[in-house]
Amino acid sequence: MGHNRCSLPTSLSFLIFSAIYVFSQGPAMGLPLYTNSRWIVDEDGNRVKLACVNWPSHLEPVVAEGLSKQPLNSISKKIVSMGFNCVRFTWPLFLATNNSLASLTVRQSFQRLGLVEAIAGIQVNNPSVLDLSLIQAFQVVVSNLGDNNVMVILDNHISKPGWCCSRNDENGFFGDRYFDPELWIKGLTRMATLFNGTSAVVGMSLRNELRGPKQTVSAWYRYMQRGAEAVHSANPNILVILSGLNFDKDFTFLLNQPISLTFTGKLVFEAHWYAFSDGQSWATGNPNQVCGTVAGNLMRTAGFLLDKGYPLFLSEWGVDQRGANVNDNRFLNCMIGVAAEFDLDWALWTLTGNYYLREGVIGMDETYGILNWDWCDARNSSFLQKISVLQSPLQGPGISESRPFKIIFHPATGLCVVRKSLFEPLQLGSCAESDQWSYTPQENLVIKGTYLCLQANDVGKPAKLGVICTGSNSKWVETSDSKMHLSTSLENGNTVCLDVDDSTKTIVTTPCACLKRDNQCDPGSQWFKIVNVTRTPCTIKTPAQTIGLLPEGYLCQSGEQLSIQNM
Ligand SMILES: *[C@@H]1O[C@H](CO)[C@@H](O)[C@H](O)[C@H]1NC(C)=O
Ligand SMILES: *[C@@H]1O[C@H](CO)[C@@H](O)[C@H](O)[C@H]1NC(C)=O
Ligand SMILES: *[C@@H]1O[C@H](CO)[C@@H](O)[C@H](O)[C@H]1NC(C)=O
Ligand SMILES: *[C@@H]1O[C@H](CO)[C@@H](O)[C@H](O)[C@H]1NC(C)=O
Repeated sequence: MGHNRCSLPTSLSFLIFSAIYVFSQGPAMGLPLYTNSRWIVDEDGNRVKLACVNWPSHLEPVVAEGLSKQPLNSISKKIVSMGFNCVRFTWPLFLATNNSLASLTVRQSFQRLGLVEAIAGIQVNNPSVLDLSLIQAFQVVVSNLGDNNVMVILDNHISKPGWCCSRNDENGFFGDRYFDPELWIKGLTRMATLFNGTSAVVGMSLRNELRGPKQTVSAWYRYMQRGAEAVHSANPNILVILSGLNFDKDFTFLLNQPISLTFTGKLVFEAHWYAFSDGQSWATGNPNQVCGTVAGNLMRTAGFLLDKGYPLFLSEWGVDQRGANVNDNRFLNCMIGVAAEFDLDWALWTLTGNYYLREGVIGMDETYGILNWDWCDARNSSFLQKISVLQSPLQGPGISESRPFKIIFHPATGLCVVRKSLFEPLQLGSCAESDQWSYTPQENLVIKGTYLCLQANDVGKPAKLGVICTGSNSKWVETSDSKMHLSTSLENGNTVCLDVDDSTKTIVTTPCACLKRDNQCDPGSQWFKIVNVTRTPCTIKTPAQTIGLLPEGYLCQSGEQLSIQNM
């Protein structure tokens, strides 16, 4: 076991020559956080978007995964460099309620499981953690995340340490063998108290994925309300985050009976959304139809909470990062479109490169993990690019608020339709460099402040900008069940859809692909989403080397000076 230090990222040379434009998150957030209708905001009322990654610490060893692979501080810095501002940090209830578990040292915990290699790895990478107790090791991770300006949401993931979650694992609902409601409230209280005053801890997820044969609506109200009150009185600073029923997919009961709490401004709901939540539907069905149906279900069972004035935290979603799982790939494009459209707060599953021990397997590789096996690099940089738009706030209150406009977002790449210059065809580019579009009642897509509208030219040809916008080829309709095809009619009457030329990234129009029925074809390249934006892109995130290359005198639309974030 050597000193597995990570080498410099291979993408560094790329970074040196390119500034990355992002939508402004505004100044450093003022913690604690509050809610303002469906938005999470800081003390000054500025929106703070949770762009989190889940970091598991609830499996049998009860130690944050990865500490045998890389130094804690390197992992925290990696999280920041990948664009996340927050970690949903999981813990098993018994860590807070069983003192003989909580007081085991990290070394003892691995020893009892026979994980000698993990001990050797921690000895190398995080020697100071090895003889801390499990609860101290948990606190050390929280504290290091805080030192790196990463917000933390403590997630009570399960009771008995181990992989989660199945319907019959006896950890699923109040009254299950390992889920005594009184013990749960005691554990929540202890955890909330322990982190009272730790400003990095901004919220607690009270219980992950309620599920199983015992679940009832009446028990949900009885215990979730008590749990919420207990957490709030132990720690009035944190957001109280509540799961729905049926693996965090169902909140419809709230339509009939509102939740009743003594406090306001702190309540958030969390939902989970995976491809496999719908079996193999994505792979076996037509992606437009599945996206329309499944996204519609999500809005009906959970998304309606936004309209009721609550933030909805999509606290688990994720895909196989290797890109070979058709079910996951089709889901991902649809999901990214929905998350951008509603500008949801979210947490990706998962940070993990590999697990110390999962379901009996030592060192199991996590194909849904954002880090690779040695916890050094992103498993898949194209995935990071795809989710980068979701990492910045597009809407919401605060000083960066601007007049509303639209971007034309392409979920398959994470890029937007942009005009690089007057003389070049429209291309895919960074969404923060996008012109401000409007989508008019006449179904024209117009660049605000100009007469220029998007027009189709011919099949397979670049789309263009024109000034006579009355023709059929200037009317764009959100077609198909997914509403993600943008179709128009050529002068000869043929219908075409907006698309991307794979090699040049030029915006073209091609025959609309697999609008319905066909389950063999993937329409991802033709999927665009017209997304509402009410914030100005005015931050450039860049390595220090590029500062001299930035445009001078650049002003944000709202009149703020450009701010430069060093990476
Ligand atoms: C508490 O933790 C210890 C150490 O893991 C374990 O042996 C014991 O069974 C646990 N007690 C309960 C009540 O879960
Ligand atoms: C939590 O911390 C606040 C200060 O931030 C303090 O006023 C309060 O008494 C603490 N609550 C408990 C239950 O310790
Ligand atoms: C990354 O994801 C893309 C798209 O899903 C896939 O084509 C590619 O093979 C993946 N790369 C790696 C290294 O897994
Ligand atoms: C986008 O904005 C339009 C009006 O500008 C509004 O009707 C629509 O509901 C908004 N969509 C979302 C998802 O917020």
